[in-house]
Amino acid sequence: MRSSRSSGRELRRKVTIVGAGNTGATCAEVLAQRDYADVVLTDIKEGLPQGKALDISQMAPILGFEPTVSGTNSYEETAGSDVVVVTAGLPRQPGMSRDDLVTTNEKIVGSVVEQAVAQSPDAIIIVLSNPLDAMCHVAKSVSGFPKKRVFGQAGILDTARFRTFIAWETRSSAKDVQALVLGGHGDQMVPVVSATTVGGVPLTRLVSQDRIDSMVERTAKGGGEVVELLGTSAWYAPGAAVAQMVDAVLLDEHRVLPCTAYLDGEYGIEGLYMGVPVRLGADGIEHVLELELSDDEKRALEASAAAVREVVGVLGSAA
Ligand code: LAC
Repeated sequence: MRSSRSSGRELRRKVTIVGAGNTGATCAEVLAQRDYADVVLTDIKEGLPQGKALDISQMAPILGFEPTVSGTNSYEETAGSDVVVVTAGLPRQPGMSRDDLVTTNEKIVGSVVEQAVAQSPDAIIIVLSNPLDAMCHVAKSVSGFPKKRVFGQAGILDTARFRTFIAWETRSSAKDVQALVLGGHGDQMVPVVSATTVGGVPLTRLVSQDRIDSMVERTAKGGGEVVELLGTSAWYAPGAAVAQMVDAVLLDEHRVLPCTAYLDGEYGIEGLYMGVPVRLGADGIEHVLELELSDDEKRALEASAAAVREVVGVLGSAA
């Protein structure tokens, strides 16, 4: 099936989003509204990417952006993309952990990355498919791209959840809450309380330890909470989180954001994708920032790394 529309405006940057499900479409919608790039949605399901692209394009006259979102079932129209976002794969269902998806999603992510990089050999790849940390290993291995050009979204979402709970608890604007979540995108992620402030005031000065513990716990299980309510994975916040990373790359913002990056000794972790603060710009990951962690936080990060290694160990030879 042909695309719903192609822009022909070669001066605009180009983002491909693989997977036109809820998360991929939300990411396309947010990016379309930013209005600096053409967005191509691709999916194996006939009609789905075309229909969503058409619907998003028809928001343009109302919200005031250029209608340059297209949908396709192939990869030809993705050629020459600056960024490829991988959301393809099965989402979680109630009772499933992200890790239960590993074998199925390894095949899907491997296949879509191979097809996408054949068309866009210079792209930066941002992975969202779960289990996130392991799927980053698959994307790096299949693409053969350097580590700075293959990374994943998890920390912005996890941090956004933590920031939302803190904003509610302290009756402050979510915009003024700064927080950081490290580690794998699983229940053993590590919200770093020592780096969490409201308007620069440490969280520990504003909220009791009990309430902090409960927000930390709710953050770590935040994906599961939505799955239990909706019967499938979250998509609004995950889609927006990826769009923030695409902005950082395509607008060369040098943003310091928590992303899933390949660690080569940083934080004492070797050869593993984990969530850490990075500086993100046009070249991808420019730098991994290393925080001073408390002993408890170090132990929690090691436990999270062990959990990620276990899932990575289940991957086939590709990764
Ligand atoms: C979540 C899924 C998308 O955390 O991993 O909601």
